[in-house]
Amino acid sequence: MDNPQIRVGILRETRSGETRVALVPAAVPKLQKLGVEIIIEPGAGFASGFTDEAYLAKGARVEAGAGTADVVIAVHPPEQAEWREGQVLVCMMNPLGSPGVIGDLAKTGVSGFALEMVPRISRAQAMDVLSSMANVAGYKAVLLAATRSPKLFPLMMTAAGTVRPAKVFVLGAGVAGLQAIATARRLGAVVEAYDIRSDTKEQVESLGARFIEFDLGGDEMQDEGGYAKELTEDQKVLQAKLMAEVIQAADAVITTAQVPGRRAPRLIPEDVVAGMKPGAVVVDMAAESGGNCAFSEPDKEVNRNGVIILGPSNLPSSAGSTTSQLYAQNLIAFLGLIIQEGVVFIDREDEVLAAALVCHGGEITSTRVREALTN
Ligand code: NAI
Repeated sequence: MDNPQIRVGILRETRSGETRVALVPAAVPKLQKLGVEIIIEPGAGFASGFTDEAYLAKGARVEAGAGTADVVIAVHPPEQAEWREGQVLVCMMNPLGSPGVIGDLAKTGVSGFALEMVPRISRAQAMDVLSSMANVAGYKAVLLAATRSPKLFPLMMTAAGTVRPAKVFVLGAGVAGLQAIATARRLGAVVEAYDIRSDTKEQVESLGARFIEFDLGGDEMQDEGGYAKELTEDQKVLQAKLMAEVIQAADAVITTAQVPGRRAPRLIPEDVVAGMKPGAVVVDMAAESGGNCAFSEPDKEVNRNGVIILGPSNLPSSAGSTTSQLYAQNLIAFLGLIIQEGVVFIDREDEVLAAALVCHGGEITSTRVREALTN
């Protein structure tokens, strides 16, 4: 063939507990529209419920060697020793949390794109994997709390009497927090929420929850990108004190507070846990980045005087079929920027590509990753 087609490879994820796959069968024809040939590693979709036959039926090839494709797409960086200079890898790399992975990848000469670095601008909304995953995670966190709680969430009026609804407090009203609020409301709980970004108040209230307001001293709490700023030490002390009361009245607390590239703020310290009701449940969605709650441990259930503290680190994997579908859509939107009419071209003037490109030509190309490596 004079002009061999660009090959896009999809690997089976190897990380423990990971159920997602980078491409679902229904997305194969959409990706083919970019003029590429698709190679799926056998069994890649199995954990999320997609068979090799389903990929074959949509026109993908199912065979070994997906890792040698021109463009490799994955959920996590594949653990493959051999890379070819100029190969492209697109996946989630936890670039600020595990920058060393990118350092190693850079040495291979791969052009690596970390999807978490895609700027949150309207043009790139369809590529926003953080939102796709956080949305599902927020929903699942509430289901987890509802399952572990000894109390039902809804108000029930029965012949045996009235059951009061559970009180749920959601800390951090970003994408995950807003979905947690909506889900807890749908389950019938009375929901309160808090975020340091006061402009979330309206969003919280529009979901039928009460926004808790603490006066921390007036300064603007978000940066130009819309992300939370880190609080000063004095603000942290005041916030914790005011919040203790709300937390201790709750039957379930969902914590989602994160500050990108930093350790998660500790918002529920030991003494606040000590004052919580036995049977109260905390689902700490920031457990992996240091935890919003004292005692939380990634992927463990901790019982502290009857308070149940959960720290699930990979909630998106607990709904692998849905999250794979969303992730595949995000990927296809992103690949549309680097593959046009069957040709790979990395336009480094493109704002989205420039931000997401973390290594290229043997170098780490992202300043933020380089800084994270030296910290
Ligand atoms: P995240 O996962 O980084 O943090 C979760 C939430 O925790 C945030 O709302 C943050 O303000 C809050 N938080 C941090 N420290 C806290 C503290 N000490 N106490 C209480 N709350 C605290 O956030 P996520 O969900 O990734 O979104 C962050 C921002 O990005 C939001 O402003 C969101 O609207 C914006 N965004 C923009 C998009 C776009 O324009 N395409 C898409 C998605 C999000």
